[in-house]
Amino acid sequence: MPGGSGGELTSGYARILDEIIGLLNIEMYSSVGVGSGDRLVLMGLREGAVNAYSFDGVDLVKLNKEPISGIARVPYDADKVVFIRDVSHGREQHLIYTVHLDEPGNEKTLEGVEPARILGVAYDDHRIVYSASTAVENGLFIAESGVKKIATLPGFAMVSDINDKYAVGVGLLEPATGRSQAFIADLATGKISVYKRMDGNAITARFSPDGWVLIAIEGSAKAELLRLDPETMEAEQLVLPGKDLDEFEPRSYSYVGFLPDGELVVVGRKNGRTKVFVDGVALKVPEGIHGGVYKWKNRLILTHTSLGNPARIIDVNGEVVLSGEVPKYIYEALGSPGFHFIESSDGSKVPTFSIESKRAGKPGPTVVLVHGGPFSEDADVWDFFAVSLALAGYNVVKPNYRGSTGYGDQWRMKIIGDPCGGELRDIVSVAKWSLLQGIADTLYIMGYSYGGYMTMCALTKYPGMFKAGVAGASVVDWKQMYELSDAAFKSFIQMMFGGKMDLLEERSPITYIDNLSDPLMIIHPQNDSRTPLKPVLRFMEEGLDKGKTFEAYIAPDMGHAVTKVDDILKILYPAILFLLRQKEI
Ligand code: 4NP
Repeated sequence: MPGGSGGELTSGYARILDEIIGLLNIEMYSSVGVGSGDRLVLMGLREGAVNAYSFDGVDLVKLNKEPISGIARVPYDADKVVFIRDVSHGREQHLIYTVHLDEPGNEKTLEGVEPARILGVAYDDHRIVYSASTAVENGLFIAESGVKKIATLPGFAMVSDINDKYAVGVGLLEPATGRSQAFIADLATGKISVYKRMDGNAITARFSPDGWVLIAIEGSAKAELLRLDPETMEAEQLVLPGKDLDEFEPRSYSYVGFLPDGELVVVGRKNGRTKVFVDGVALKVPEGIHGGVYKWKNRLILTHTSLGNPARIIDVNGEVVLSGEVPKYIYEALGSPGFHFIESSDGSKVPTFSIESKRAGKPGPTVVLVHGGPFSEDADVWDFFAVSLALAGYNVVKPNYRGSTGYGDQWRMKIIGDPCGGELRDIVSVAKWSLLQGIADTLYIMGYSYGGYMTMCALTKYPGMFKAGVAGASVVDWKQMYELSDAAFKSFIQMMFGGKMDLLEERSPITYIDNLSDPLMIIHPQNDSRTPLKPVLRFMEEGLDKGKTFEAYIAPDMGHAVTKVDDILKILYPAILFLLRQKEI
């Protein structure tokens, strides 16, 4: 551990930074489908970046040339893989590429696609559909001997499946409602039909082999699976032969798919963990979060991760198919994980994961690590940031503040129209709890994106509560950010504020910059197109004029999305070094 004198300090820091490199070099895999010749297609964090691989059980073959940003789900027996790549140094302007499984490395650019923020891609054997956002509009496009626009969509939309007649997906079709709805697009006429629900958030939509549409919804009390007829738009609750899924009472779904014989696989989600069901019957899988369930070489395989396991491929018997190796020093530093419901200022219960560091002591220095989204969830998953903090000697608490997903539509919707309000009080309640609970003796706060915004809110609205904060890719000025946003993020901001756009200034940390008094580290990607740098530069300029002290690292040649080991280091190194120095003060 860093000691008191300069020399010891430096060598202590150097060891931690080295350990973090070791952590980031762990290979991670997730399954995206099974193509022709029974080849498993994977997205892998390997060779320092995200790449596409095919795996026949013996050889792992890289399919792309340069690193990628995402892969479309592979239909069974497809001979090509479709992926997207950021071609704008992180500004999230993507192009689409195809590669034949028999010709690894021979990727082809899909002709006729203009660079845009691509939010969803689905394909069959002769067409590719994609949803994308440009500066001015959100659209649904089809590539089939040339690219054409099928429809303009009112907001953020993610197409997820295609059949002969239709494409389906989910999106913010009425941003002011705060919910995403399922849509069905008629490929011939461009007509968009919306299955609208005001008591739930549509997670994804898929075609069954018989042509009906499965819609997964995070409902107000529990999650739902609906069976919708695309001709009549009538929907009914799906009834499955097995009853384990109903008994589990999932709050949400994180994966749905059909196996080649037509059986339905769903991954149900509750309290930060998932379970896997085939036609409603539970499979025995290790505890954690699961996804990408496919039939491969006559066995069922899936992606699994947990606080103690980087994403890897296992089969349903728990046998490891493909996995990175975790160096021993990591397990030696990680203490026991915990899951708690912590009372917030209004009596709500905030689901929170905690990870103790064996290097921190108890109570010890503790980082409240705040997730982004805000529509995402801190769950039982491997987390570079949390593990790095544990290596550096900090306990970590991760609150699922209101707005988080996985706990039902009511909890998620509570953030709408009230950013930097109730969710911040949830985070502060969790921070106070970790002191009372004997986890923390000193509190720090750190987050990226919406989590960076929460850090800025905490330091400007609760000065003195945290010893220091790290704000990565943060929001400091909603007004300027809205002006700089493309169509997708304009609709997203409208949704966040529930249409109450007069609140933008009141909910911006720059408005309260006079209150800033705790040490602040600002880390921001230079090419960020979701939470742009410009408002943060203005924040710094105002801070400078007002005599504030802060540190800043502007990360060059990267944007909001983190897809390379180098990108992660650009965020983690300054964050960890800053926190270590604060610990010495
Ligand atoms: P995230 O980033 O936390 O990574 O999802 C965000 C980007 C934009 C907005 C919120 C979060 N926004 O409200 O526009």
